[in-house]
Amino acid sequence: MSATLIDGKAIAAEVLAEVAADVDYLKAQGIEPALAVVLVGEDPASHVYVRNKVLRAGEVGIRSLEYRLSVEASAEEVLEVISTLNDDPTVNGILVQLPLPAHIDENRILQAIDPAKDVDGFHSENVGGLSQGRAVLTPCTPAGCMRLLRNTIDDLRGKHAVVIGRSNIVGKPMAALLLAADCTVTVLHSRSSKPQKLCGQADIVIAAVGRPRMIDAEWIKPGAVVIDVGINRITEGGRSRLVGDVDFDAVLPIASAITPVPGGVGPMTIAMLMHNTVTAARQQHGLTAHRESY
Ligand code: GUN
Repeated sequence: MSATLIDGKAIAAEVLAEVAADVDYLKAQGIEPALAVVLVGEDPASHVYVRNKVLRAGEVGIRSLEYRLSVEASAEEVLEVISTLNDDPTVNGILVQLPLPAHIDENRILQAIDPAKDVDGFHSENVGGLSQGRAVLTPCTPAGCMRLLRNTIDDLRGKHAVVIGRSNIVGKPMAALLLAADCTVTVLHSRSSKPQKLCGQADIVIAAVGRPRMIDAEWIKPGAVVIDVGINRITEGGRSRLVGDVDFDAVLPIASAITPVPGGVGPMTIAMLMHNTVTAARQQHGLTAHRESY
């Protein structure tokens, strides 16, 4: 048996087409959705991510604004930019690219963003709302994973989902979303005892540890659905390549469905950011969704 590939590129394209239609609808009401991206410092990966976000926004008709600050910028300078964007009614979404330089307190910056414009879903107002099951702006990568799961599994209720990793960006919000979908949820982390055994009971595995190919065939129950959030650059045979947290070749014959890396979760993250921007714009103008859900 070989697992079905979950095509993140194709599913992200579907989401982006829905977003583009929503943008057209909003523009017809005189609303032009806008996303502001704040980048502090010179981290090369962050520059690539920001460029891709701005490109994707343009493709779906979302106006984007970029604010680039030097690596030496103070927290006060970043807060000043955020304050201006919070007060600007033409800006619907604000994203501060992480990580920030070490001298800036990340939490202080994230808490300064107006929760209604927090398209990353990192403000404690949105984090709290998610854990209470309220409809809020939801972190993009876990929201993208949910969309992949809904495309793959007809009924998530009662499924045992194991999330490997407990980060604020992926693991914790992922667990909250799975719980809201009526899954039974186990979160594994670096201090978990017998993680492999627990993971072996899962119908759904979400791997978000940041360790190349850590999850091999021994971790996976036959027929499980495997979502690989990891994007790790390794050098193999003198060549640089991207691999996930899952040993794809080893798990392929065991799982029923699996995301590839690249081309699985990655494209979904940006698609969900665009979705959140449109949701924020709509909510700020008191409009209700004319589409069920993503
Ligand atoms: N850096 C890595 N992932 C993310 C993300 O989802 N949002 C932001 N703002 N920065 C990131």
